[in-house]
Amino acid sequence: MKEQIEQIRKNAISEVEKATDLRQLEEIRVKYSGKKSELTVASREISTLPKSERPVMGGLINQVKKEIEQLIKEKEKALAKEELTKKLETEKIDITLPSIKVKRGSKHPLTRITEEVEDIYVSMGYNVVSGPELETDEFCFERLNIPKGHPARDMQDTFYITSEYLLRTQTSSMQARTMEDNKEKTPIRIICPGKTYRRDDDATHSHQFNQVESLVIDKNISVADLKGTLEMFVRKMLGEDLDIRLRPSYFPFTEPSYEVDVTCFKCKGKGCNLCKQTGWIEILGSGMVHPNVLRANGYDPEIYGGFAIGVGLDRLAMFKYDIPDIRLLYQNDVRFLNQFDKCDRN
Ligand code: DAH
Repeated sequence: MKEQIEQIRKNAISEVEKATDLRQLEEIRVKYSGKKSELTVASREISTLPKSERPVMGGLINQVKKEIEQLIKEKEKALAKEELTKKLETEKIDITLPSIKVKRGSKHPLTRITEEVEDIYVSMGYNVVSGPELETDEFCFERLNIPKGHPARDMQDTFYITSEYLLRTQTSSMQARTMEDNKEKTPIRIICPGKTYRRDDDATHSHQFNQVESLVIDKNISVADLKGTLEMFVRKMLGEDLDIRLRPSYFPFTEPSYEVDVTCFKCKGKGCNLCKQTGWIEILGSGMVHPNVLRANGYDPEIYGGFAIGVGLDRLAMFKYDIPDIRLLYQNDVRFLNQFDKCDRN
């Protein structure tokens, strides 16, 4: 029996040595220490031996069992380490390889302009609001003192969905909506940037364009407030050294109404092609909110007053970035759009 155990020991040692992976090693472990292993069978046979030999044989079997277990443990560690090293080697990443370049996009010039306008107005305490592009005749025209049949409608022909619903021609519709919503008659200071539509199509007019409307309603508002706001806006937007001038004009929803010119930022007022040698460029419309508009939207013109400003964002972008044709803003030609890429880096 002693020889038999010695043989088992030798076999186990040689098999463990030969094992090349953890799965094989597990099989060996089961073979030598499982319930049906030769050593377990041998230990059951101890009872058939003479009494005096039993402790010696028992001791020997236990010792061999322990030895094999220990061997397997060590081999297990060695194999695990080997496998890890192999894995690390095959999965090695060469960090010196140049990376794949991700092409950065850039903001659309109209988005840039809109965000700039918003920043300037927000810094003066205004809220930014947005309103529906599919508008009613009532809010787009009637409530702004432009009744049906008014000649001012001729300049703002648009896409009619029904006789009541249309695509808004001006963000001025948000003047009426904001006043309507403000039941508590708290002071209003809002701007509304957004898309507008008209039946137009040439180098300076698109059927879809963008405007930003400003509206202030409060007690004791004067033209001085309007002029100060305009100066601040123009200087922050186009250049600190620029002046503005107000020219009398006509808009149905303001009285008095002004067209606002700014010193030509290309020639600084000397006269050039852009300003047609006048030194001035017309950039927006504005005025004091008409009493009829206040009344139509629930305000008593004896108590409240205000001013409104309407700016064409496309026009502003064309001036600021020297864009010759408004349609470039809507064609999504990447050769055009990529040119604004550099502006975003600053
Ligand atoms: N809504 C006018 C337009 O589209 C622009 C405008 C002019 C807006 C004067 C105003 C304003 O708020 O006061 O032609």
